[in-house]
Amino acid sequence: MKKLLSASLMCADLTQLKNSVCELEKAGIDLLHLDIMDGSFVPNITLGFDLVNAVKSITDIPLDVHMMVNQPSRFIDMMKLDENDYLCVHYESDIHIHRTLEQIRSKGIKTGLALNPQTPLESMEYLTDYMDMALVMTVSPGFAGQKLFAGAERKTKHARELLDSLGCSHIPIEVDGNISPGNGRKLSACGADIFVLGTSSLFIKDKDMKQAADEFRAAL
Ligand code: DX5
Ligand code: ZN
Repeated sequence: MKKLLSASLMCADLTQLKNSVCELEKAGIDLLHLDIMDGSFVPNITLGFDLVNAVKSITDIPLDVHMMVNQPSRFIDMMKLDENDYLCVHYESDIHIHRTLEQIRSKGIKTGLALNPQTPLESMEYLTDYMDMALVMTVSPGFAGQKLFAGAERKTKHARELLDSLGCSHIPIEVDGNISPGNGRKLSACGADIFVLGTSSLFIKDKDMKQAADEFRAAL
């Protein structure tokens, strides 16, 4: 599977977002990761639906929307996404997460099931028919600049093994949180396919994004 880079826009300079998106296009970034937080499912509030729709209107890079909100099913209709985009929801965030995944699919959008560090991998087992991606959190979600959790490599490896054993080798694994070039290399070896790039790799003061993206790709 081709390895993809997903740029975490919460780490971009929000006063210069359009310029950043242009730079990310030039850097050959594959996906734009947008973190939506509600201050309840996670202890922070970041980007919202208007921003998702605004970004969608200025770029052809597919979006990778990561909802860290309680009952995300309430908000799916508020985003103008299409078949090129991913909409990821957390296993614990809706009581009937299967229904939420179906709701996303019914709109023609690709689904992702996100797992917190402590969420058992088995939570995916009966949902793979409704999944286009597995998002393995490598930090507890909520903030940029955190440290990789100790089980991240084992969990990514076991996620790949579980998906393969279920006949789901086509489902990519995305890793999110502290994805530095070094951690990216290790997690790639464990079977990660999509890398969320934030302050650990892509958005670094005085560093060109294309150079940072090229260095990350070279590290994989
Ligand atoms: C949370 C976010 C963060 C962040 C990643 O869902 O996606 O994990 O943007 O960037 P760093 O490299 O700061 O952890
Ligand atoms: Zn995220």
